Amino acid sequence: MGAFKRFFGLFRPKLTSTDRELIDAFLNDAGKFLFYQMSRVDQKHSVEVARAAITEAVDQQEIDLAALVQAALLHDIGKVEGELNGVNRVVAGFMRRVFPSLREKCSRTYRTGWWKIRYGLYVDWVHPLRGSYMAQILGIEKSVVDLIRHHHDPPRPDQTPELTILQLADSKH
Ligand SMILES: [Fe+2]
Ligand SMILES: [Fe+2]
Repeated sequence: MGAFKRFFGLFRPKLTSTDRELIDAFLNDAGKFLFYQMSRVDQKHSVEVARAAITEAVDQQEIDLAALVQAALLHDIGKVEGELNGVNRVVAGFMRRVFPSLREKCSRTYRTGWWKIRYGLYVDWVHPLRGSYMAQILGIEKSVVDLIRHHHDPPRPDQTPELTILQLADSKH
């Protein structure tokens, strides 16, 4: 459902003052730079993921809440504004969830044709790695960088609870 919610999220309102308070509370200047270079759709999505992550974390002990919320706000920074439109967002999200093998095959080469469908798949494929690199070079904490890097990895039994919460929150929004 996430992809469809995000498509309709194109019509979401802008960030509220409460959203900005959350961003200001958890992100430093580098984090805010990375956050605000995303499209409005991805900014709003990321705030919703952060709020859902906070709700999930309330009942759990020994969660690094600061790292979790920073990662939630920054997890999709590898999707640079203007790269994805409504159609290729939905297709990429659908393919990632329903046809993961085909999506992987189609994503590994950079293509611009087919109404940017292949390009959207490429961006969707590369955004965790690219986003983690962007965060790393701007000095974001390593635990946050790692969460960004692995937020679409298949769940593993030994992964951190912060990654589990981030993946759960992301899948709902
Ligand atoms: Fe993502
Ligand atoms: Fe996301």
